[in-house]
Amino acid sequence: MKKLCISVVLILCSMHTVAGDLEKGKALSSQCSVCHGKNGIAKDPESPNLAGLGAYYFEKALVDYQKGMREDRRMSIIAKSLSMEDIKNLAAWYSAFEITVKEPGM
Ligand code: HEC
Repeated sequence: MKKLCISVVLILCSMHTVAGDLEKGKALSSQCSVCHGKNGIAKDPESPNLAGLGAYYFEKALVDYQKGMREDRRMSIIAKSLSMEDIKNLAAWYSAFEITVKEPGM
């Protein structure tokens, strides 16, 4: 069990050390902005906001679309056109947005 915990920590650490390139991510994001918005806030009612998503969640979503563990008629095609490096660069870009939240009625 201890060994398993250590390897999980190591895997998580190694995922975080391979951080994507912000500038490359920004350049790639132009192909996403039609649906997800130029600033990662979606204008298309069917598309979610990407700004401020955690890099891990972001990467996992795209890998899931690639592997067919998650399906969407648009994203399944788009994800397949991206390399793992592209995904990491895009994750770096969108996760770097700072989001502030205001509760309703506050
Ligand atoms: C044609 C419109 C369109 C384009 C272009 C597009 N997306 Fe999407 N994206 C969507 C829709 C719609 C969803 C929600 C799909 C679902 O329900 O799973 C989505 C979902 C996602 C999610 C999952 C978000 C979440 O909260 O789980 C990620 C990550 C994502 N897109 C990244 C990208 C990236 C990166 C690009 C550009 C390389 C891109 N998308 C281009 C329409 C688009």
